[in-house]
Parts: sequence; structure tokens; C-alpha cells
Amino acid sequence: MLRVAAQIIDGKALAQEIRAELREQAAALQAKGVRPGLSVFLVGDDPASALYVKNKHRACESVGVFSEEHRLPVTVSQDELINLVLAANFNPSIHGILVQLPLPNHIDKRAIIETIAAEKDVDGFHPYNMGGLLQGNPRAVACTPKGVVKMIESTGMSIAGKRAVVVGRSQIVGKPAAMLLLERHATVTICHSRTQDLAGRCREADILVVAAGKAKMIDAAMVKPGAVVIDVGMNLVDTGFVGDVDFETVSKVAGWISPVPGGVGPMTIAMLLENTVEATVRAAK
Ligand code: GUN
Repeated sequence: MLRVAAQIIDGKALAQEIRAELREQAAALQAKGVRPGLSVFLVGDDPASALYVKNKHRACESVGVFSEEHRLPVTVSQDELINLVLAANFNPSIHGILVQLPLPNHIDKRAIIETIAAEKDVDGFHPYNMGGLLQGNPRAVACTPKGVVKMIESTGMSIAGKRAVVVGRSQIVGKPAAMLLLERHATVTICHSRTQDLAGRCREADILVVAAGKAKMIDAAMVKPGAVVIDVGMNLVDTGFVGDVDFETVSKVAGWISPVPGGVGPMTIAMLLENTVEATVRAAK
């Protein structure tokens, strides 16, 4: 039997297109005297977090979004961080606030997220925004799942009525991704570490979103021929970064597949820019 290789979902190219549109929107806002502004908080010196933040900063510059970075020592107290976030809440030239996760153990992540003004929460992590998503009335939606859905839509496949399986139930990716797919009328299953017969569940998926943080855990035998496979994984192994999907074998079975790197990562950043520009537009109204 002739096996046709999957088509690649090029997140990098898609992100470039979105960034070009955002550049125009940011320029239009600037012409009205409003420059979109993002405030990013980075606590400690975790190299992966520092790299994410650097990439976010560069991306902001490239589309005309002002970004300021607060680099704080790992010893910063929860109260100090809360006060800095409050200052950003009240700063009219800042429209988006992002506190890079993870935070050190002595800081209560929830207390920080709940301090961010909901209308400036460009991560979509605030309970107000998560609640809106659950109620089918999303405002700011978490960047990675928002990008994942755009990647699925870019294939031209209609989501309504399809079987979607999300592997991973994190607050940041799995849960919101499942809600966004449900909102688009997919029949959604969320799988996790205690799921029985994970392979069987995955094989039912027309749309398979994998955000489990386990290198190459999805192989070809777990994928329905022709499925759209989105790999959110970013795992550091001896050879560099690999996804949660074994690209080499799965790409022979899937209809569409997103690579790592060059898939979800660039889309997450594009969605952060989009959320910042959208928050600016809302604030300007
Ligand atoms: N750490 C890893 N991913 C993210 C993200 O999307 N937002 C924030 N704030 N921290 C992260």
C-alpha cells in the first residue's frame, strides 16, 4: 500500500502571517496615539524561562508592541511581586501583563495570577478569563491552546462533529484546548496519566493534540490514518528538543502533523502578541 506522508503544519510560516497582520494593527493604533504595551515579569534565572522571555521581547519589537521586562531575583518576596504587578495594573501605557511560569516555590502562583487585572491578563490564566472560556464566552484565551486551534483550522478540516483527543490536562494547555475544541463542536476526550488504553483513545482521534511533556510518547500505532496531529511537546533530550510525538513514524500515518521545533512554539508567541493588541483595542474603546 502506498503511504502518503503527512502534510506539515508550518507554525512558523503561519505565525509570520499573523505577525504581519498584527504589525498593521499596531501601526493603526499608534496612528491614534496608542502604543500597545506589554509588561513581562521573570523571576529567577531559569535558562528556559529566560529564553522564552527573550523571544517574547524580540517578537514584540518586530510588530511594534512596546515591552518592558522586570527581571527579579529568585529571592523576591510574594508581596514585592504583587506590588509590582499592581503597579502595572494601574499603568495606562501597559495593556498586557505576563508573569512567566514557573515561579519559585515560596510564591503562590494563584495569588499572583489573581492579582493581574483580568483585562490585562494576556495569558488568559486569570479565573475570570478561564471562567469565560468554560462558559463559552472567551475573552483572553491562553496563547498555546489558541495557537493550536488556529493550526488545526489552517488545514481546512472542519472541527464540528469530529473526534478530538487532547492528551494532557494542564491549566495552561490541555484543559483550555479541550474547551476551545468543544466550543467548535468537536466531540472531545481529555486523556491523562491515569487514562486506561491511551493508545485506543488516541486511535479514535480525527484531531489529536498532545501536551503531556513526555518525549515521543505517541507512536504511529496510536494514530488514526489521516488524523490532524498537533504536538505541543518540547522535551530536551541528548539530541536537542523533541516533541511528544514520534514525528518520523507518525508523519507516515497522519494526514497533517506539526513539527517540533517550528510548530506550536512560534504560534504561542504570535498569540501573545495578538492578545496584547486585542487588549489594547479593548482598552482604547
Ligand atoms: N511558562 C511556560 N509557558 C508559559 C506561558 O504560556 N505563559 C507563562 N506566563 N508562563 C509560561
